[in-house]
Amino acid sequence: MAITEQAGPASLIVRNARVLGAGSTADLEIVDGRFVAAGTADPATAEAIDAGGRLCVPGFVEPHIHLDKALLAGSAPANRSGSLDEAIRILGERKKSFSSADIAERAGRIVRDALAHGVTRIRTHVDIDSGCGLVGFEAMLAVRARFAGLVELQIVAFPQRGILGDPGTETLLRAAMERGADVVGGMPFNEAGPSASREHIRIAFDIAREHDADIDMHVDETDDAGARTLEMLCEATTANGWQGRVTAGHACALAGYPDDYAAHVIEAVAAAGIHVICNPATNLMLQGRGDPHPRRRGITRVQELREAGVNVAFGQDNLRDMFYPFGRADPLEIALLMAHAAHMGQPDEIDAVFSMATEGAARVLGATDYGTEPGCAGDLAILDARSPVEAIARQADRLHVIRRGRVVARTARTQTVAAP
Ligand code: FE2
Repeated sequence: MAITEQAGPASLIVRNARVLGAGSTADLEIVDGRFVAAGTADPATAEAIDAGGRLCVPGFVEPHIHLDKALLAGSAPANRSGSLDEAIRILGERKKSFSSADIAERAGRIVRDALAHGVTRIRTHVDIDSGCGLVGFEAMLAVRARFAGLVELQIVAFPQRGILGDPGTETLLRAAMERGADVVGGMPFNEAGPSASREHIRIAFDIAREHDADIDMHVDETDDAGARTLEMLCEATTANGWQGRVTAGHACALAGYPDDYAAHVIEAVAAAGIHVICNPATNLMLQGRGDPHPRRRGITRVQELREAGVNVAFGQDNLRDMFYPFGRADPLEIALLMAHAAHMGQPDEIDAVFSMATEGAARVLGATDYGTEPGCAGDLAILDARSPVEAIARQADRLHVIRRGRVVARTARTQTVAAP
């Protein structure tokens, strides 16, 4: 794997590209960083890459990751219970030695890994609380600036310890939004009770309205089927007219609701145009530990949400920290987990899983220039596969990753096997 950062050509032609949904392969052209109509680029001066009929996507999109916590495993005590609560407690102690430079260095390593895996747009949550203040947020500003030419990075101001339960956090959230955070985060279940959860959501919407910002909350990341903050979020979304601009991450409790209440909430999620992000890696690991057998899988109701018309995507969430010990910022790895965890194994379901990491996640980010049509951002990942199922099954290499018309990462692998 190599990441190149030199200036690229003004125009690029990718020949024999297989774009999902297209009946046949086609040549794609990028001029001045944008896809253009066929025949626009000058073949005499444009750089050319032959995709050879391989699958091409307009960049994978990572809609839910925690870059500030990445790679903390090894520099903090082990999470012996494996629970979310213990992870948050350990993190609280570790944050006392956080520095902006340390966070930016770890985050930068993950952004480079993501880029090598074809990810050109990322939404990261960053902890903001009375303990760490804005140190993580400042690190993300530095990472966003450093990688500006390579990756689009959206920053979510994330009050993981609550807003009411952690005095001072509301002021910090407002400061982060003033200084360039893109999205208002939240964790309403991590408050003292239902009325505080409602107030948490109300404050988040107030801040979002002040900054005309989208909202992306951690919702009901718990096995407690009594958690009700997803329904509260639906009500607030509709009341504020924020339909299509709100995302609910995790939503694990939905899996534990009685079916009739779950159906009621799913209908409300669809009516409010809320996007849902499932994080199968982390939640398969964290949730369900207290269940007697048979144990819940810990993930939200992916199939039912999709059937109701809800845009469901998936994210990496944590990686190699006190929440989750693995992860390499590769959407194909999470796609494989997603398909297993949500029982999505039919051909159309596998295609749907693949699309969650492309169009689905792009919708979460509110991208208006995502795709390969003329005018869209000139991002492309060429996979060493010819179909989504092959890409996921073989965890296919991303041979070329193109950002705004220039190659920013390449992977070339040599493998030899003895003849039988
Ligand atoms: Fe998360």
